[in-house]
Amino acid sequence: MRKLIKGIFLNPKTDYSVEVLNNYCILINNGIIEKIEKDIEINEIQFDVFYDFEDKIIIPGLIDLHTHIPQFRAIGIGKGELLEWLNDYIFPLEAKFSEKNFAVDSTELFFKDLISKGTTTAVMYSSPQKQACEIAFEIADELSVRSFIGLPLMDRNTPDMIIQNTEQVIKDIFSIADKWHKRNKCEFVLSPRFALSCSDELLRRVGEIAASDGFFVQTHLAESKKELQEVKLQFPEVENYTSVYDKYNLLTSRTILAHCIYLNEAEIEKIRDRNCIIAHCPTSNKFLRSGIMQAKKYIDCGLKVGLGTDVAAGYSLSMLNEGMEACEVSKLLSVQNDEPNIVIEADTAFCLSTIKAAEYLGISEEVGNFEIGKKFDAAVFELAEVHKSAELKEEEYLRALMYNIDKRTAKSVFIDGNLVYHK
Ligand code: GUN
Ligand code: FE
Repeated sequence: MRKLIKGIFLNPKTDYSVEVLNNYCILINNGIIEKIEKDIEINEIQFDVFYDFEDKIIIPGLIDLHTHIPQFRAIGIGKGELLEWLNDYIFPLEAKFSEKNFAVDSTELFFKDLISKGTTTAVMYSSPQKQACEIAFEIADELSVRSFIGLPLMDRNTPDMIIQNTEQVIKDIFSIADKWHKRNKCEFVLSPRFALSCSDELLRRVGEIAASDGFFVQTHLAESKKELQEVKLQFPEVENYTSVYDKYNLLTSRTILAHCIYLNEAEIEKIRDRNCIIAHCPTSNKFLRSGIMQAKKYIDCGLKVGLGTDVAAGYSLSMLNEGMEACEVSKLLSVQNDEPNIVIEADTAFCLSTIKAAEYLGISEEVGNFEIGKKFDAAVFELAEVHKSAELKEEEYLRALMYNIDKRTAKSVFIDGNLVYHK
């Protein structure tokens, strides 16, 4: 099956630039990009279907490096800072996922919204019940989202309704991974929720499993000041928060660390040495009053930074929105600290949400941008009326798209060249 797609393509590059392919056509053959050409003579080319998206913007499928499936229902609802918010709103909600119908309905709502926002690859946490995690994999697989999903591990400091038994949860990890790891487009991710929710024994075992089985690991690190104080009390023998994970061999090039707001120079150095991935979640960091991560500083010193919506601390699954927020909070930090060079520009944020994230996840030979031989994962967006009629300069298209906060929903979304969403 050959499909021809026409429109204005924004193509992110590994050097953080964005190429504008205005009036181009992409020819897809069985889901793989075969040709990228300008001003194609339509009648000189063989295809089965033609999608003419005219003046709409076509971008690579977006990649969310950190979000929580069960929390979708709590967007905007909760309040307070991290630890109270988890106890008051999130743990009770996640407890409800022990009910199968609730888990299925909620998980479907999550994935449908995710796709409608143009996200085609995501790294996620399920609810902490084994069944909820399996439901997440089933629905992700059915909807063909490229999904890295982990069961959040929590065997201490957790309310009775969702606390896990250490031995049982280790068995659950193997049982879920046996079924879902590397099946179709799914990967199982080892997910110690954060240091405070895990016993030393659990962290030790997870570190061993990660080393022997090569799973990605995801966790939260240095998100809030109160969390840092608690970590000090709970792990008095360890010099800082990062060292808790390092002690259990959890810091590798396949580890995704969400937040990383409060790190000292030694910790930054360690994370760079270990080549870990940082998921910057600026929306969440505002909502929970956590703080502002120094994204530009981290990028400039060679850390692997991507973006995560962190729903429901983040209040939208839109990665265009997350990119915009990354730019906006960096401006606040810049003016607050009187550091003009720490502003994140739109093209950087866009590359972090696409090609850079694909590189970190080891899937950039398949997806992340438009190149011959890659799979066609893409989202089509309409610009605002005022921008459609304006004569935009090429470099303005991306900002017109990213700041169009009234239209975060895609018109069409493709995964592997298949139209999976159309409005
Ligand atoms: N730290 C531990 N669990 C969570 C969570 O669910 N969301 C956020 N934002 N931080 C966490
Ligand atoms: Fe999170």
